[in-house]
Amino acid sequence: MKIIKSVSEFREAYKNADKPLGLVPTMGFLHEGHMSLVRRARDENATVAVSIFVNPTQFGPNEDLLDYPRDMESDLAMLGNAGVDLVFAPSANEIYPPGFDTQVDVGSIGSRLEGEHRPGHFKGVATVVCKLLAIVRPDRCYFGQKDAQQCLVIQRLNADLNLGAEIVVCPTIREPDGLALSSRNINLNPDERKASLVLYQALGKAKDMLESGEKDAEEIRGAMRRIIEHEPLAEIDYVSVADPFTLEELNEISGEALALMAVRIGKTRLIDNMMI
Ligand code: PAJ
Repeated sequence: MKIIKSVSEFREAYKNADKPLGLVPTMGFLHEGHMSLVRRARDENATVAVSIFVNPTQFGPNEDLLDYPRDMESDLAMLGNAGVDLVFAPSANEIYPPGFDTQVDVGSIGSRLEGEHRPGHFKGVATVVCKLLAIVRPDRCYFGQKDAQQCLVIQRLNADLNLGAEIVVCPTIREPDGLALSSRNINLNPDERKASLVLYQALGKAKDMLESGEKDAEEIRGAMRRIIEHEPLAEIDYVSVADPFTLEELNEISGEALALMAVRIGKTRLIDNMMI
């Protein structure tokens, strides 16, 4: 496994790499959710590259950039065991050198939900993913359904700017009790860890209601909200039942819908979603 820190070194490695090349972009502190993407990429490509870069531009001024968990040694061990060929782990200065002044703004899909609650977040994500696709030039690029809106933003970006990668969306990996794996779960204390189950419970409720014939999306949002509000440690950022492609809020559900939410458990902000 080759560990690469600069863009020029990556370009050299690219020339010698067997194709197709699959890329898994990450911010490190890897868990089984990330590794499920890595394994899928390993199955489908001759060369697998994983990027590890805690991207400062996708964190807001009051967000957890400095507290974001990091463990490069353990990440590299996991990636080595999974048979990854190339790890791209640049510094912030390599990605954003002095004078850097371009931002990619993905329109309406990036402005709803997470975009509304974390202004600038998707600009940061779209800009760094655009750069990673330009540097790594993968045939396939792997993302998790856990970050459903991020997947839609990247698909829009990839299509609109003709970036040419196949975007592969992989299922959400959960703990046995339903909590979606996330690097941020490490910040939950034992009480908060218990409280965090309301996210999955609310999503399950949404699915049950739709399956029992409830078509009124506001009824479903209301029931989800009540489950979360019942938990004293939980505070809702948003609860949504939306069109799975545009993320527009639904009134009447006719086909598939995506239930999404962002909830603060203590100081930790968790997101989750489920197709219902
Ligand atoms: P990060 O949070 O490290 O996640 C990297 C990838 O792992 C994302 O595509 C995310 O959706 C996926 N992932 C995280 N938890 C998952 C889970 N429980 N099940 C399945 N997949 C999961 O997302 C980012 O980094 C950044 O925004 C990035 C795309 C790297 C740009 O900086």
